[in-house]
Amino acid sequence: MFINKKLFTTALLGLLVTLSIIALILSLVRVEDVTLPPTVQYGMVFDAGSSHTSLFVYEWDSDKQNNTGVVSQTLSCDVQGPGISSYADDPPKAGDSLRECLDEALKVIPAAKQRDVSAYFGATAGMRLLREQNSSAADRVLAEIAKTIQEYPVAFCGAQIITGEEEGAYGWITINYLLESFTKYSPKAHMWVHPEAANSFGALDLGGASTQISFAPKGSFINWNKTSRFMLYGYNYNIYTHSYICYGQNEMWKRLAKELIVESPSSTLVEHPCYPKDYKETISLSSFRTSPCTNQSDPRLPLDDRNVTLEGRSNASGCLVAVKKLFNFSACGQSQDCSFDGIYQPPVSGQFFAFSAFYYNFKFLNLTEGQSLATVRETIEHFCARTWEDLSSNYPEENPERLPKYCANANYILTLLLDAYKFNETSWNNIFFQMKVGSTNVGWTLGYMLNLTNMIPAEAPVWVKGHTPSLWAAAIAFVTFTLALGLVALVVLLWT
Ligand SMILES: *[C@@H]1O[C@H](CO)[C@@H](O)[C@H](O)[C@H]1NC(C)=O
Ligand SMILES: *[C@@H]1O[C@H](CO)[C@@H](O)[C@H](O)[C@H]1NC(C)=O
Ligand SMILES: *[C@@H]1O[C@H](CO)[C@@H](O)[C@H](O)[C@H]1NC(C)=O
Ligand SMILES: *[C@@H]1O[C@H](CO)[C@@H](O)[C@H](O)[C@H]1NC(C)=O
Ligand SMILES: *[C@@H]1O[C@H](CO)[C@@H](O)[C@H](O)[C@H]1NC(C)=O
Ligand SMILES: *[C@@H]1O[C@H](CO)[C@@H](O)[C@H](O)[C@H]1NC(C)=O
Ligand SMILES: *[C@@H]1O[C@H](CO)[C@@H](O)[C@H](O)[C@H]1NC(C)=O
Ligand SMILES: *[C@@H]1O[C@H](CO)[C@@H](O)[C@H](O)[C@H]1NC(C)=O
Ligand SMILES: *[C@@H]1O[C@H](CO)[C@@H](O)[C@H](O)[C@H]1NC(C)=O
Ligand SMILES: *[C@@H]1O[C@H](CO)[C@@H](O)[C@H](O)[C@H]1NC(C)=O
Repeated sequence: MFINKKLFTTALLGLLVTLSIIALILSLVRVEDVTLPPTVQYGMVFDAGSSHTSLFVYEWDSDKQNNTGVVSQTLSCDVQGPGISSYADDPPKAGDSLRECLDEALKVIPAAKQRDVSAYFGATAGMRLLREQNSSAADRVLAEIAKTIQEYPVAFCGAQIITGEEEGAYGWITINYLLESFTKYSPKAHMWVHPEAANSFGALDLGGASTQISFAPKGSFINWNKTSRFMLYGYNYNIYTHSYICYGQNEMWKRLAKELIVESPSSTLVEHPCYPKDYKETISLSSFRTSPCTNQSDPRLPLDDRNVTLEGRSNASGCLVAVKKLFNFSACGQSQDCSFDGIYQPPVSGQFFAFSAFYYNFKFLNLTEGQSLATVRETIEHFCARTWEDLSSNYPEENPERLPKYCANANYILTLLLDAYKFNETSWNNIFFQMKVGSTNVGWTLGYMLNLTNMIPAEAPVWVKGHTPSLWAAAIAFVTFTLALGLVALVVLLWT
């Protein structure tokens, strides 16, 4: 009997030790290692701006789609040629222009996955303006684009003109998704933590035809007209967003030229303070009538099709004065919560990402390293004073169409940020001029795709596969339970 008891005890102990070791091993192996390899999914979004179109391909691990920061950019492709609104007279060409990038995208997406790839096409301010001018032309361009994309083996989800408010809100979502401002898994606390909304980043976007500002204002503000309200991961976000049509960079050039021409004493030779000295550009008065941003019934604009020559003056202070005239600041009256043209805007607060043309212009001027406002002003003034001969010989690599415009662009950016949005010397340091987060471009496209694929749920994630806290807990509980059982068995056996 005693021998039997000893044998039984030994056997039982052996079993318990084995079970405990198995439990321990299980608890140490991460779930990812034992589940099947993650399945990668893809999505693609065309960003059809006023001056050019880009295609972005994104990929993510379908097991983790509800985590922030898991979508990454696989490819970005610049479509050759102008923006799609330029094809109003020949819509099939708009579709054809996309083929090269579509082919490139299909090279990076495994053939077996292509049919599952959601393909979105979003057009912005250039097409908003075309639709305003000639809506049937805009529809035909979009129809040709849909026709072309449907020839490819992807799941086409429609070609649309998105609103300025959507463009602003999706840019904001993109940045904050990439920077994990919404929700973030804390391995230390074994839980999802929700950074405060106040820690979100604002978005500043400057395109060819429009510009957007989007941010979470501090405190409660009363004017809900200009907000986007959305719920992400169980939290409500109230985002102020405004899109200014005709305040994109290219439309600004046209408006600036028009103002200089109508105010000039000479009718054929007009001084341009922002262009470099000795630089000349000829412009036809009729070109102002083909763009809705310069076609408001302006009695000062002569009705003939005369050609006017703009002659550079390299006048930095004159340029700033001329650029400021493009904004109606007096329309705000005494109101502080107002940008210009009478548009409501709460005071800027928090940190901001300034991307697209904000970034490209400041990158060229080497101003993206967090320089102080004083340094920025000085650099721009110095640049604006340079002659065309100096610039063209020092920047032979630069596109000669773009080079003479950096002075106007930089002064425009300063006016927009300081006089309109009302950043000051202090809050200036909260603006980051950046084009990418990691390897992903910042723009509206990622936020657009995340929203349309429901990848950012409106509810907080409860249990997320791929993280092991619950498994750990289960393993520890199992080991403890086994040991306790063993101890009880031992005590009972030794007792009898
Ligand atoms: C609109 O564009 C179409 C070409 O797509 C053209 O045939 C038509 O004349 C245009 N209409 C106007 C009012 O310009
Ligand atoms: C909000 O918008 C409505 C109509 O769109 C307008 O009548 C109202 O004045 C706006 N309110 C404010 C505070 O701007
Ligand atoms: C420009 O404005 C005039 C009058 O306001 C209008 O008749 C014409 O259609 C407009 N042109 C364009 C291209 O919008
Ligand atoms: C304006 O210049 C273009 C070439 O730049 C020329 O074809 C056109 O005839 C000129 N127009 C006038 C009214 O002189
Ligand atoms: C530059 O422009 C300003 C404002 O238009 C003007 O007062 C000044 O005389 C100009 N400077 C030169 C050197 O032309
Ligand atoms: C600016 O806006 C005010 C109010 O809307 C208007 O009366 C004024 O004419 C505008 N000024 C210019 C230069 O457009
Ligand atoms: C920016 O910096 C680079 C390298 O330091 C320099 O070659 C270039 O001239 C600078 N650009 C401007 C616009 O000053
Ligand atoms: C700058 O603006 C912020 C609000 O955006 C304000 O709190 C601060 O006092 C201002 N600083 C200066 C120096 O005006
Ligand atoms: C996201 O998409 C839904 C429709 O699926 C739409 O109702 C919502 O307004 C979108 N969110 C944003 C921020 O635009
Ligand atoms: C992500 O969240 C959505 C909405 O809450 C849910 O329907 C979906 O099943 C979730 N996906 C995964 C992989 O957890």
